[in-house]
Amino acid sequence: MRTVAIEPTFESWQAAARMLLREGVPPADVRWRETATADQPSLAGEAPAPRGSVRVPRQFLELARRAAASADPARWQVLYETLWRLVHENHDLLTDARDPGVQRLNSLLTQKGPGEGESAAPFVPAGAGLAELRAAAARCTGCDLYRHATQMVFGRGDDKARIVLVGEQPGDQEDRQGAPFVGPAGEVLDRALAEVGLDRERLYVTNAVKHFKFEERGKRRIHQTPRASELAACRPWLEAELAAIRPEILVCLGATAARAIIGDSFRITRDHGRFAATRWAPKTIATFHPSAVLRGEDEAQQAQLYTMLVEDLRKVAQA
Ligand code: URA
Repeated sequence: MRTVAIEPTFESWQAAARMLLREGVPPADVRWRETATADQPSLAGEAPAPRGSVRVPRQFLELARRAAASADPARWQVLYETLWRLVHENHDLLTDARDPGVQRLNSLLTQKGPGEGESAAPFVPAGAGLAELRAAAARCTGCDLYRHATQMVFGRGDDKARIVLVGEQPGDQEDRQGAPFVGPAGEVLDRALAEVGLDRERLYVTNAVKHFKFEERGKRRIHQTPRASELAACRPWLEAELAAIRPEILVCLGATAARAIIGDSFRITRDHGRFAATRWAPKTIATFHPSAVLRGEDEAQQAQLYTMLVEDLRKVAQA
């Protein structure tokens, strides 16, 4: 029996499932355990895709992403069983609505995830400017994350900024200091911005989720990736910030922010560095998260990720 520890996110499950599949480990030999191993934003989607990855119907990935947000502890097992059968038994399995495995998968989609239905919306003053939004945000209890965080970390910067940068969520330092990107990831970001000649004073920097989500381990507070329901709950703040600023360029830092803004089909290795219009900004682009640079496997990968981050930001500086 193999015990596989994953963060409770689709990306973390997907990375582990790919590995198990490549090694030919059948579902009956796997026990899934949820944990919070990452102390930085989830990077499963940030590393280059492994070679020889399997092809499964796109529909499965969409279903799996939604099923991952359910609260059912068996969901990782159900997903891996389905994936295994798609690859080894029947590529068209999902069209068989009478199959018990498919029915079990579908039942996950109708369950509510923890926190589902929570929202910051009642706390967001309509049509407000940034100062008013920031004051209101300090009182937000729209989801449970406020209970453990030190404070709400609202966006910072020029309220007439042409360029807005969106990260995932505050980290340990940001939670203590009450400002986004002031910890180790912020140092990487500042270095990259300086390299392409972007002045942080003239930007607006914020996060998709505005309270630090973490697990306490001894004296350390370990970053936990926000759930889809937490991203959705916090979204009204991001929408209000973007509506107040109306940036020309919107930069998503990392896969979580990119999915929140561009959509679920976004893949960072495939789609980074390309401008597209969204309803938020005529030029929306995504790049690697500065924490991905810090968490690169070795110096070579860190350098590679940093170079890609700088190249993408250079496009922003030149746009
Ligand atoms: N990572 C983020 O995504 N945002 C921060 O503010 C800090 C680290």
